[in-house]
Amino acid sequence: MRCYLHAFLLCVVFTFLTFLYVFSQLASTLEDREQRRVRDDAIPDSSHHFSRKTPGLSGLRDREGGPDRCKSLSVSYWKPYYWRLPADVCGVNCLLESSLSERTASVVKGHERSHLAVVACGPRLEETLTMLKSALLFSKKPLHFYVFAEDELHDSFRSALEVWLKTFRLKFTFAIYPITFPKENAVEWKRLFKPCASQRLFLPLILKEVDSLLYVDTDIIFLQPVEDIWALLFQFNSSHLAAMAPEHEEPRIGWYNRFARHPYHGNTGINSGVMLMNLTRFREKFFKNDMAAVPLKWEEILMPLLQKYKLNITWGDQDLLNIIFHHNPESLYVFSCQWNYRPDHCIYGSNCQQAEQEGVFILHGNRGVYHNDKQPAFRAVYEAIKEFPFGENMETSLLHPLEASLQTTTHTYCGRAGHLFTKRLKQSIKSVQQQDKLP
Ligand SMILES: *[C@@H]1O[C@H](CO)[C@@H](O)[C@H](O)[C@H]1NC(C)=O
Ligand SMILES: *[C@@H]1O[C@H](CO)[C@@H](O)[C@H](O)[C@H]1NC(C)=O
Ligand SMILES: *[C@@H]1O[C@H](CO)[C@@H](O)[C@H](O)[C@H]1NC(C)=O
Repeated sequence: MRCYLHAFLLCVVFTFLTFLYVFSQLASTLEDREQRRVRDDAIPDSSHHFSRKTPGLSGLRDREGGPDRCKSLSVSYWKPYYWRLPADVCGVNCLLESSLSERTASVVKGHERSHLAVVACGPRLEETLTMLKSALLFSKKPLHFYVFAEDELHDSFRSALEVWLKTFRLKFTFAIYPITFPKENAVEWKRLFKPCASQRLFLPLILKEVDSLLYVDTDIIFLQPVEDIWALLFQFNSSHLAAMAPEHEEPRIGWYNRFARHPYHGNTGINSGVMLMNLTRFREKFFKNDMAAVPLKWEEILMPLLQKYKLNITWGDQDLLNIIFHHNPESLYVFSCQWNYRPDHCIYGSNCQQAEQEGVFILHGNRGVYHNDKQPAFRAVYEAIKEFPFGENMETSLLHPLEASLQTTTHTYCGRAGHLFTKRLKQSIKSVQQQDKLP
């Protein structure tokens, strides 16, 4: 009997111990999992994003690097021929992460993202947001925005774009960067032309991990999908590394051919407000020039060029680009004026033939015409995009009001070309609406 009792007690103890063991194992697994989760949340590493096809709001915030990660960087961290950003500044690191997760996203979804860069200084916040809005409204493929801005504007950009993410969750990602210049000549570069327009010259050196980019000025309005201009990259032959439109169609009113005191591209020069760039090729090429006996790399050419021509240039970095492509014309793909349609194309009567035929693709309201009364037709387009409430019907809340306000501008030459401003826009709206109807 006692023997049975012993055996029974032994069994009970054994069962109890087994139970304890299983319980402790279970507890430690749970604990592990919890720790891993906490760790993943704390470290925005790329492998974590990798598994996510399309990052949600929180994923994006990680990548943008919150306020801690993306410390503002004032003026310059530049050594001649060599870029240095502190590790905690949003730069190459953030970019590497975003390009990694992006690549996965585009492979998974089977289409390429268009990369759009803009440089915003001073009072350009609203104008820049309106440009980005037009990019979002008509594009059917996803976008990535590189916003270079003065430190004071970073918070405003971030909060505006995060609000948009609620509507356009899968459609775009963004990163915000400080303005950086070569250390030794920061003041000189900043003063050149507008406060920070020359930043675009340094994009191949700042965005080292990026292959290609569409740079646009803040006063651009897309009237057709960004992916359509992006597609021109694939028309490049092996020597093209950038694409731009001519500065003028009509040499009689051209600026460069009448006034420039430096070399320029082609018959009338080029306009750099809409510039498609294969950054990889910018970084690889040796550029012919009139300063050294040998061709120079991009990072070597800019400063000597500025030194040589600074007293002779009027339009800042656009003039420098003209000089460079004067000596390297085979590297430039020239696209037609409807990709960069400016008041010059209609101010004395229409002189952009391609726009006459196919409509305006990209509107460029330079010389402040979105904000003054000199070219009301340009202003009408800007206002229509700016005022359009996301989510409304684009035909009734964007196109129709725009057509009505263009009607009031027919006393100007550009107003008389108003139907060219809406020709492409109509098609873009239709095609976005068709896409929205698909399941
Ligand atoms: C840019 O140029 C590089 C080097 O020639 C090439 O590998 C890459 O595919 C080009 N990018 C695009 C988008 O065509
Ligand atoms: C600058 O312009 C002056 C006057 O037209 C000209 O003589 C000079 O050669 C120009 N400088 C350069 C570097 O082209
Ligand atoms: C590429 O096209 C340009 C004209 O845009 C031309 O000058 C150049 O020779 C072409 N390059 C090649 C390799 O065909």
